[in-house]
Amino acid sequence: MKISKIDYKSDNIDAINKEQFAIDVLTGLSASPKTLQAKYFYDDTGSKIFQQITQHEDYYPTRTEFEILNTIKHELAELIGEQEIDIIELGAGDGHKSQLIIDGFVDHNCKVNYYPIDISEEAMLMLEDNICDHPNVECHGIVAEYFEGLRLVREKSTNKQLVLFLGSNIGNFDRVQNQGFLRRLWMSMNAGDYALVGFDLKKDVDILTRAYNDSSGLTKDFNLNLLTRINNELGANFVVDNFQHFGIYSPLLGAMESYVIASKPQNVYISALKRQFHFDAFEPIHLEYSFKFLKTDIDFISQHTGFEVIKHFSDPRDYFIDSLWQVNK
Ligand code: AVI
Repeated sequence: MKISKIDYKSDNIDAINKEQFAIDVLTGLSASPKTLQAKYFYDDTGSKIFQQITQHEDYYPTRTEFEILNTIKHELAELIGEQEIDIIELGAGDGHKSQLIIDGFVDHNCKVNYYPIDISEEAMLMLEDNICDHPNVECHGIVAEYFEGLRLVREKSTNKQLVLFLGSNIGNFDRVQNQGFLRRLWMSMNAGDYALVGFDLKKDVDILTRAYNDSSGLTKDFNLNLLTRINNELGANFVVDNFQHFGIYSPLLGAMESYVIASKPQNVYISALKRQFHFDAFEPIHLEYSFKFLKTDIDFISQHTGFEVIKHFSDPRDYFIDSLWQVNK
């Protein structure tokens, strides 16, 4: 299957992105406590490590969501019941989950126009390898920011849309951000369109802790790679071995939190910012929230952002939910 890229990139996008990265690092490392934004995990190395995490036995979400989608793919196509559909995926993923959903529709003789949207061209290329050719499927990869990509799809087509936001990516937003994001999604969709959103559920703390502290040290490498990225792209001199990975569940927040912690007092110079940052011994940098949900949270979020829950699809252990929503307008 071919992926045509609708590439909106301007010539100086790399310079703009780098400047924004530098400003976000400046803001984050000037704050107290220090913080860096999780969206910067995903350079080429970070994306590859994340792929490995998703296949690790300790990281249950990807495997569990795959099981759910494999079980429900025909029911999903039946519930939606269209003859032609635009499946729009926010975040390209590796294509394995998307392929299941596409297969479900194709088996119901539904024509599928598949539009994965991702800011990373690299991610789009990884996906391309895993999506299979089929005469009833057309693929248009869109290298763009999510809402820019959604606008492009709307300009091209009037079919009913199914927007996929899988993998519990929603959990990397805090509770205010996730409602802002979903309301913006609602605004960009038509009445009667569908969204399938993946939510990782609250569960035994040991299972959560293991998933974000895997036995092969992949999550540790994933987190520390952000310091390496700052070294490479912003000319910093972080000594990565001077930082320790720490992943912990906060029952008050209902979220896994990832930190790197300075193991001794040190200074780090970032040449793109012409600034030095001091770290006290054992000073943390907060990197990521991965919020976990109850079914009632999902009902609340959908209602408050303009969607109606059609069905929650879960696995036998109740680890994860893919929730099918329809736009109310
Ligand atoms: C992408 N996101 C849903 C992952 C998560 O579980 O929050 C990122 C991740 N961080 C550490 N492991 C996986």
